[in-house]
Amino acid sequence: MKYALIGCGRISPNHLEAAINNDLEIVGLCDLVLEHITQLLEKLEIKNPEFKQYINYHEMLQEQKPELVAIATESGEHAKIALDCLEAGCHVIIEKPIALSLEDADKIIAKAKEKGLVVCANHQNRFNKSIQRIRKAVEDGDFGKMMYGTAHIRWNRGPDYYKQAPWRGTWAQDGGALMNQCIHNIDLLRWMMGDEVSEVCAYTDNLNHDFIEAEDLGLAIVKFKNGSYGMIEGTTNIYPKNLEETLYLFGQKGTVKAGGKSVNIIEEWCFEKAQENAEEVKQKNSEMPKNVYGFGHTPLYKNVIEAIKTHTKPLVDGEAGRRALELVLAIYKSAAEGKPVKLPLDKCSTMDFVGRFKV
Ligand SMILES: NC(=O)c1ccc[n+]([C@@H]2O[C@H](COP(=O)([O-])OP(=O)(O)OC[C@H]3O[C@@H](n4cnc5c(N)ncnc54)[C@H](O)[C@@H]3O)[C@@H](O)[C@H]2O)c1
Repeated sequence: MKYALIGCGRISPNHLEAAINNDLEIVGLCDLVLEHITQLLEKLEIKNPEFKQYINYHEMLQEQKPELVAIATESGEHAKIALDCLEAGCHVIIEKPIALSLEDADKIIAKAKEKGLVVCANHQNRFNKSIQRIRKAVEDGDFGKMMYGTAHIRWNRGPDYYKQAPWRGTWAQDGGALMNQCIHNIDLLRWMMGDEVSEVCAYTDNLNHDFIEAEDLGLAIVKFKNGSYGMIEGTTNIYPKNLEETLYLFGQKGTVKAGGKSVNIIEEWCFEKAQENAEEVKQKNSEMPKNVYGFGHTPLYKNVIEAIKTHTKPLVDGEAGRRALELVLAIYKSAAEGKPVKLPLDKCSTMDFVGRFKV
């Protein structure tokens, strides 16, 4: 399957590695800055590549006609590039968040449907061994009635991270801690708790990053339609480095905690109906990745390739990407309006919050 990548920055090595690990035929890499492609190739020790390098993705799509394109540019560019790729007949993997407005997410989903193409939102943590095992317990009904779940993202991002790429932390291209760093765990919480949210009540603030436009702290309570609750606590303020990304699920008959730097380790596993030894489950389903991006890109790509071949939906389809985006935007809206917000939301964009914090 012919594959191309648009955007060769910080997260791009995970994409190119995933393409290589899945035996995709790489036909082109594209970045506005050719030097970024060179750095990516150096990082992966790829010498004399056979594929071409482009600064214009339209040219690459036209010349190479890739079947699958991954989009890893700044978030504010995702929707436009995804719509162009879909129009050109390519299946797409779009880095999270799928877009920065619900209107754009809806356009992507509609265009893919019209063209019969696969869209995947790149929430790779769904493929962590820990998360896959927990999801199985949810699907098997092992928790009994789910009561509540909590997502904690206690990370650190300092001035250097934002200086590297000035689009980060802006409303037009990114959003803040919740939209960029915390959206993975927000997606997991929503997925595990039954997807359907009725109401959100939240606070957001910028306490320690006066050089970015958006929030560095978000605290939210989520009411799910099935009567359960969620709590989200996300920040990039933790001194002096990333502390944890943790997901707790509390059911009437089960308690689980996935922790580590990015929910890669099962730290608590306790069920009334214990089919397996808890220590074995913890050991078999815990991993120590070298960074918070984890090992998820390769199995996510495998899942997308399978979906394309079998004309089915990938695990993290466009609608799943939209649900994660909707929940973050609902948190922003509740915090900005100072009152609970009902879901579903039809329209909302990061641009609705321009000027919310002092820069
Ligand atoms: N899944 C994850 O864990 C994860 C981790 C980090 C970043 N991300 C997401 O990946 C995306 C990229 O983040 P990053 O940190 O790698 O950013 P980055 O700034 O390091 O890289 C983005 C690259 O895209 C290029 N680019 C921008 N517009 C382009 C265009 N029109 N055509 C071709 N190239 C273009 C830029 O020149 C840059 O090299 C963001 O949406 C971010 O939220 C996801």
